Amino acid sequence: MEREAAAARVEELREEIRRHDHLYYVEDRPAISDAAYDALYRELARLEEEHPDLVAADSPTQRVAGQPADAFPTVEHAAPMLSLDSDQDEATLRRFDERVRKALDGVVGEVAYVVEPKLDGLSIELVYEDGVLVRAATRGDGRRGEAITPNVRTIRSVPQRLRRPGGGVPAPPRFLAVRGEALIRLPDFERVNEALLADGKEPFANARNAAAGSLRQLDPRIAASRRFVLEAYDVLAAAWDGGDGGAPPFATHWQLLDTLAAWGLKVNPTRRRVTSVDEVLDFHADLERRRDDLDFEIDGVVIKLDDLAARERLGATSRHPRWAFAFKFPPRKEITRVEAIAPSVGRTGVVTPVALLRPVELGGVTVSRATLHNREEVARKDVREGDWVRVQRAGDVIPQVIERLETDAHGQTYDRGEPWRMPAACPSCDTPLVERGPFTVCPNSYGCPAQLVGRVVHLASRDALDVEGLGEETARLLVAQGLVERLPDVFDLTAEQLLPLPGFAEVSAGKLVAGIEKASTVELDRFLYGLGIPEVGVAVARDLARHFGTLANLRAAGAAALQEVPGVGPRMAEQIGAFFADERNARVLDDLLAGRVTPIEHEPSPAALAAEAAAALPFAGKKLVFTGTLSAMTRRDAEELVARHGARATGSVSKSTDWLVAGEEAGSKLDKAQALGVTVLSEEEFLALLAEHGIEPPPAPA
Ligand code: IVH
Repeated sequence: MEREAAAARVEELREEIRRHDHLYYVEDRPAISDAAYDALYRELARLEEEHPDLVAADSPTQRVAGQPADAFPTVEHAAPMLSLDSDQDEATLRRFDERVRKALDGVVGEVAYVVEPKLDGLSIELVYEDGVLVRAATRGDGRRGEAITPNVRTIRSVPQRLRRPGGGVPAPPRFLAVRGEALIRLPDFERVNEALLADGKEPFANARNAAAGSLRQLDPRIAASRRFVLEAYDVLAAAWDGGDGGAPPFATHWQLLDTLAAWGLKVNPTRRRVTSVDEVLDFHADLERRRDDLDFEIDGVVIKLDDLAARERLGATSRHPRWAFAFKFPPRKEITRVEAIAPSVGRTGVVTPVALLRPVELGGVTVSRATLHNREEVARKDVREGDWVRVQRAGDVIPQVIERLETDAHGQTYDRGEPWRMPAACPSCDTPLVERGPFTVCPNSYGCPAQLVGRVVHLASRDALDVEGLGEETARLLVAQGLVERLPDVFDLTAEQLLPLPGFAEVSAGKLVAGIEKASTVELDRFLYGLGIPEVGVAVARDLARHFGTLANLRAAGAAALQEVPGVGPRMAEQIGAFFADERNARVLDDLLAGRVTPIEHEPSPAALAAEAAAALPFAGKKLVFTGTLSAMTRRDAEELVARHGARATGSVSKSTDWLVAGEEAGSKLDKAQALGVTVLSEEEFLALLAEHGIEPPPAPA
């Protein structure tokens, strides 16, 4: 491609990728498929490779560029990054409120606060100059932190360039330092830990530690692989007037957050404006109830004075501002005793050592079991039966043993038992266990009752067939009683068979049978997920279902066809292929499909896939006609440009034309458009429309 054309296309691709990044990572509403996105990204990477002089620091391809650094330079923050005064006591919160009211008595009419979640990640300073991200740093000691810019650039919700929203919203200032929290979502955190465990490494105790550990790695590829989110919540410093200070273009914290969002930063959607402590308590209680449903960790709520001028009056101590307060949730860490360590066999045969605990309350839930992950982890933490330990619950993650304690609940040292050992044989089927890396596995996949229980529970779980009333306990009973010997048996259960079982009565037996019946017609992706194919989680199951449409297509697919699915690599393709190739799996599947389970399938047409991608483009489905002479570009370029963004440029005006773009000396087409009532755009209006969609026009004709 000619350099000039390449330059234009590169700009266009960057704009388009930035737009989709924003939709996906900031607004959580992706507009195109991963495959369509990848195609844009690959085209950009290829053009930049062919024309190295076109590479720019803020190009989307440069998010994960750069080589591992030797060390991070220390930098001084634009303003001190203070911490928050915090407590979990209501009385302390009330005192904070009283102090604020006293200081503002007679100064402001009504005292209003904004309450937001207290995000439990890593506090980060982002510095933008002329709207371009130039630096990102950790909090450090509050005055100076480590410049971890290459790592933060990999965070897709951090715009490399701020938006200029227009429409009454001020443009970003020449200098802007924003404060926000870098977070790892819980599903991603679990993925990180699974990978660490599989490598025989120590997992992170919580998402916050995982975030801190990953952002301080010298190789930015590590941060990139951990899929951070950054949510902005404060402005540290800004040159509003082009100089060093000036008045901000907003008067309240609420407006500040709206403005940060308009500039393209991600802002947490949950916040409330309140005028009393009781309302703060309400918000706190609401969030605490929802805490386990959130996919990131929060450890309380933050209360901030809404009026920014009033904040100035209150000022700060050397450590924290007087206008804000963190009202924390009760901790979800406790100490307790390990009564026993029991090996538990999961659906894949992996044997997990589980600490059976003296029951403790962790944030409103009584916990009596915690995972110890694998035998190496037990050895590393040196946890033995009878030991005292600190346990933690994070999000809806299974409780974990964080550390062993030298002393008991009364601070006394205690006598310890023998080091714990993994048994030699499966506790469920007595098959000799085998070691696979740090994991211990029961190889008797098809004969082990514990694995069958695990498979039944997984098939019935919420993201799969979602059968109500078929949890661990019931599954164990069904397998122990011999009513379920293979997965398909679940669908042949009758109320008469269930009735004699402990815990079942007429109503509950009928309910379970009806529930299974109802769940047996199910979307293909849920069914695929429920089968427990190695490596196939909810997201991959969805991609496979969308790509292949039917189970028959998927079963027939070879490794190459599987790898055409975005996100499916060689290793995963091999595992999926091996699963379907296994005769015993094939028999189970055939039996499930023989009138027991009916997957809802949709044959995907190539046209449908193309339409999905096209519908996401900004000019999707529009019909345009260009007439007269354009000054900024040739008519031909204009037609190609809009076509690339999903529109159709035609030669003649009709009633179905959406826009007629009229350049200089437009003639009969303009008359016709006016007669038909078609919207007529001048060239300026057309250029404005392009700009509105973030589309840059090609270079002007010579
Ligand atoms: S405002 C000085 N808002 O909590 C006030 N902080 O010490 C500036 N945090 O290090 C911070 N969620 O990392 C603010 N919505 C939120 C927050 C928040 C979490 C963190 C921040 C700070 C720590 C408290």
